[in-house]
Amino acid sequence: MDIFIDSADTTEIKKWLDYGVIDGVTTNPSIMLKDGAYDIESRAREIAVAVDGRPVSVEVATNDLTEMVNQARVIAQWSPNIVIKIPIINESGEPCLGVISQLDKEGIKVNATAMMSFGQVALAAKAGATYASIFAGRVADEGGDVTRLIGMAADWLESWDYETKIIVGSIRGVIDIQDAACAGAHIVTIQPQFLSKMVDHKYTRETVRGFIIDAKKALAVREKKSGS
Ligand code: E4P
Repeated sequence: MDIFIDSADTTEIKKWLDYGVIDGVTTNPSIMLKDGAYDIESRAREIAVAVDGRPVSVEVATNDLTEMVNQARVIAQWSPNIVIKIPIINESGEPCLGVISQLDKEGIKVNATAMMSFGQVALAAKAGATYASIFAGRVADEGGDVTRLIGMAADWLESWDYETKIIVGSIRGVIDIQDAACAGAHIVTIQPQFLSKMVDHKYTRETVRGFIIDAKKALAVREKKSGS
């Protein structure tokens, strides 16, 4: 399973890259805003260089389907490792499947995003999406069984030999990462604060503290013995 970082914060992205655990980056307009990327092109280009060929998802920002294709073509030119995020439907409910299909025909990789259901994942895969983003937290917010959804979608893609990879995003806690991973997600995209929580554990700290104390005690005994 791959791990992407769900962030536009270049300091966090570089830090987790240096730890050797990051396989790609996802952003959306809200993440860009939160992380102070008011010039989306310049931040996307900066991230794309920093991640050295790993995929970076950048989202279009329009409800107009023709304009989506135009924006996608422009964004895709910023760097060869940029993947275009296209919502599965626009805010009026119009399907963006034709946009996904058109971009796929042009060789532009698409991350079909804001998906909440099995049907959306299946249609995104049929239309040619490289990635299908399931928003775990938002599905759960509405009472949906996201673990079952991820498992069914992953099984279906495998059964029918689709190359589309499921990205699980909208993580609300570390347990969501475990649930997504065990349900069959190909990729989980994780905000920096949850990556930090994933690695930390108070009992591990306490355990290490005990080892350090005992190592110091052993050294003190050794020094006392060699001095006497
Ligand atoms: C990832 O691709 C999504 O854009 C992101 O995880 C959405 O998360 P949210 O539901 O917390 O906004």
